[in-house]
Amino acid sequence: MKPIHVGLLGLGTVGGGTLTVLRRNKEEIARRAGREIRVVQAAVRDLAKARAFAGEGLDLTTDPMAVVDNAEIDIVVELIGGIEPARSLVLKAIQNGKHVVTANKALIAKHGNEIFAAAQGRGVMVAFEAAVAGGIPIIKAIREGLSANRIQWLAGIINGTTNFILSEMRDKGLAFDTVLKEAQRLGYAEADPTFDVEGVDAAHKLAILSAIAFGVPMQFDAAYIEGISKLTREDIRYAEELGYRVKLLGITKRRDDGIELRVHPTLIPEKRLIANVNGAMNAVLVNGDAVGATLYYGKGAGAEPTASAVVADLVDVTRLHTADPHHRVPHLAFQPDQLTDLKV
Ligand code: NAP
Ligand code: HSE
Repeated sequence: MKPIHVGLLGLGTVGGGTLTVLRRNKEEIARRAGREIRVVQAAVRDLAKARAFAGEGLDLTTDPMAVVDNAEIDIVVELIGGIEPARSLVLKAIQNGKHVVTANKALIAKHGNEIFAAAQGRGVMVAFEAAVAGGIPIIKAIREGLSANRIQWLAGIINGTTNFILSEMRDKGLAFDTVLKEAQRLGYAEADPTFDVEGVDAAHKLAILSAIAFGVPMQFDAAYIEGISKLTREDIRYAEELGYRVKLLGITKRRDDGIELRVHPTLIPEKRLIANVNGAMNAVLVNGDAVGATLYYGKGAGAEPTASAVVADLVDVTRLHTADPHHRVPHLAFQPDQLTDLKV
């Protein structure tokens, strides 16, 4: 069977990781997807930047719309980040009948309702596993693994940068700014790191998890958000002396009157599993009425962990597209016409 053709928008930390994983595990991935997944074109800002994959048959362009309009491309992978031009590019790709894979939590949290409705109207898939908790397949776990359950609540460490900062401040006594710079160097932080440290990135991810868990629209604007920028080494040390660890948690709960969404630093007794999640690792606890509490743990940021989720989405989309290209229900997203109307 001929390869499925992919166009990448962005070839930075996650885009580069995606190419690395696709190339290194080419045979396994083709076997699982049912055919080769081939990246044929990629858009970047700066053609002069040194790239590990230059000259390997990849067409590089500075015009992302050229990728979206390329008739040879079946799946567009958006890894530019931010709202614009990402939103316009994704909507145009959908309008052009292409499936979309994205790691962009800001885009999905703020414009997911519009994007899913467009995808449903056009009969294409939108997949976004990499948008939450890096390499942990948390969206799949909630949507598929726990589909028998009425989810009661979920809570987790869903921002790697802030967990890295809190861990390094506690373990090595390092200053906030020093650790943040290291998180940026390691490719964990957002382009604007205030999104990480002020809890906005965690709130984007929480809005997505909440929508999937409770079948409600994305409600990012309803979240209470408090980050870690006001925490000092002394706060962390005092918490330690009292037997607690400070973690930035995202929490969403089903209540009688609606859904609660909040992100804030939380004191966790040091013996709890989640208190011992350190560095850029993420962990999400999900409580369902049938299964009880379940815990998902893994690398929450960085090139290859995130690429793991991007490529898994590419495999799913390829498999479903190949199985029945004319029945393109966007069931990798939730279906906008089946949402409940629980108030937030
Ligand atoms: P990044 O390293 O800054 O890469 C962004 C890429 O997009 C770069 O290749 C850049 O080109 C390209 N780009 C930006 N604006 C463009 C434009 N207008 N036209 C064409 N190309 C453009 O970002 P990243 O860390 O890979 O993050 C990408 C997305 O993944 C974001 O939504 C982020 O939130 C999400 N994400 C990141 C991680 C992580 O650990 N980093 C984890 C999960 C999700 P140049 O290379 O020429 O500058
Ligand atoms: N900046 C994000 C984080 C990247 O630190 O968790 C992964 O989504």
